Amino acid sequence: MELREELKRKAGEKAVEYIKDGMVVGLGTGSTVKYTILKLGELVKDGLNIIGIPTSIATEKLAKERGIKLGSIDDYQVIDLTIDGADEVDKNLNLIKGGGGALLREKIIAHASKYEIIVVDESKVKDILGDFPLPIEIVKFGYKRTMNVLSTLGCKPQLRVRNGKAYITDNGNYIVDCKFDKIENPAELERKIDEIPGVVEIGLFINMAKEVIIGKKEGIEIMKIP
Ligand code: 5RP
Repeated sequence: MELREELKRKAGEKAVEYIKDGMVVGLGTGSTVKYTILKLGELVKDGLNIIGIPTSIATEKLAKERGIKLGSIDDYQVIDLTIDGADEVDKNLNLIKGGGGALLREKIIAHASKYEIIVVDESKVKDILGDFPLPIEIVKFGYKRTMNVLSTLGCKPQLRVRNGKAYITDNGNYIVDCKFDKIENPAELERKIDEIPGVVEIGLFINMAKEVIIGKKEGIEIMKIP
């Protein structure tokens, strides 16, 4: 296994130690949390009883394949613990998410969660957010105008394209990836973007993560809100 993949695996698998019998568990999306879900599937096979709440159609499919019992956010409006990935993490545990396109469902589930744990490899930890273009989910109607308004905030918005076509989220919307120089004040930026009509959700997750599990060459580091 390539080193980065190995670090993702370490972080992803470590997170299952937080899952206890009887919990309602939010299941994030992406190539790091995939390792959490695979490990969780093994524990479920050995008798662990939990309900998983998936953050995307892809995660729902993977969890089902692994025999994990699933529920919906409408049936379980309070989630004990969510484990998810991120594209960037800063020292205050603020995040950029949405590289995998699941930011809207991920944010709804994070908001419903008593405890949110993020799993990343060490390359995702930054002093200041913003190397990774910020994913923003927008409605299709008027998307060119919405992108133009976004550019007035100082970013270069790119409509996300996959296989030659505009990428469509699980919720039927577009994603715009916005490259900012540096995001010095994520809370202020989130507020400004949120005011733009057509914006559905923003990939900034502020004050949502309680713990970040980092897979490093030397082992595992845990960053935690005191
Ligand atoms: C999906 C996400 C993912 O958690 C994020 O993109 C990290 O994914 P990966 O672990 O594959 O790097 O926010 O919307």
